[in-house]
Amino acid sequence: MHNIAEHGRSGGGGLTIIPEDRKPVPRRQFTKLLTLTGLAALATGAWVFLRARRSKHDPEIVVASAGEIPVGGFKIFTYPTDVQPCILLRTAPDTYVAYSRLCTHNSCPVFYKPEENVLFCPCHGGVFSASDGSVLQAPPPRPLPRITIEWRGSNLVATGVMKS
Ligand code: FES
Repeated sequence: MHNIAEHGRSGGGGLTIIPEDRKPVPRRQFTKLLTLTGLAALATGAWVFLRARRSKHDPEIVVASAGEIPVGGFKIFTYPTDVQPCILLRTAPDTYVAYSRLCTHNSCPVFYKPEENVLFCPCHGGVFSASDGSVLQAPPPRPLPRITIEWRGSNLVATGVMKS
């Protein structure tokens, strides 16, 4: 099938036949394509950014195995060295998150309160979100550094420290 379009000024008033496969893309379809391309670029950029924030020297250490921690439970471990305490939380059946255990105010150890889904610092009352480590109540000035964890078979492995 072909479309017939009026020829421009240089063509002397004739008609041009445009093959179907060279028809312009409708605006709505073009916008949709542009949006999807933009989202893909954004996702790729975010992944690259997050990977770049991890230290290249962080070790990979098994910190727990499947079923070891009950839902609402936690496990204390050290990472990336033996003198840096961290806490691994199981906040839902399939959700595990890990953070440095040292409060960003004066480095007191934080404690998990699963009923409130927070990490609490007893020294000066600081509170962090157990979902993302963000500060919910001062005085801590920064979120808790997050420890990246990945499943390797039936083991949970710490793979890096996210810098905030
Ligand atoms: S050390 Fe945690 S609130 Fe001060």
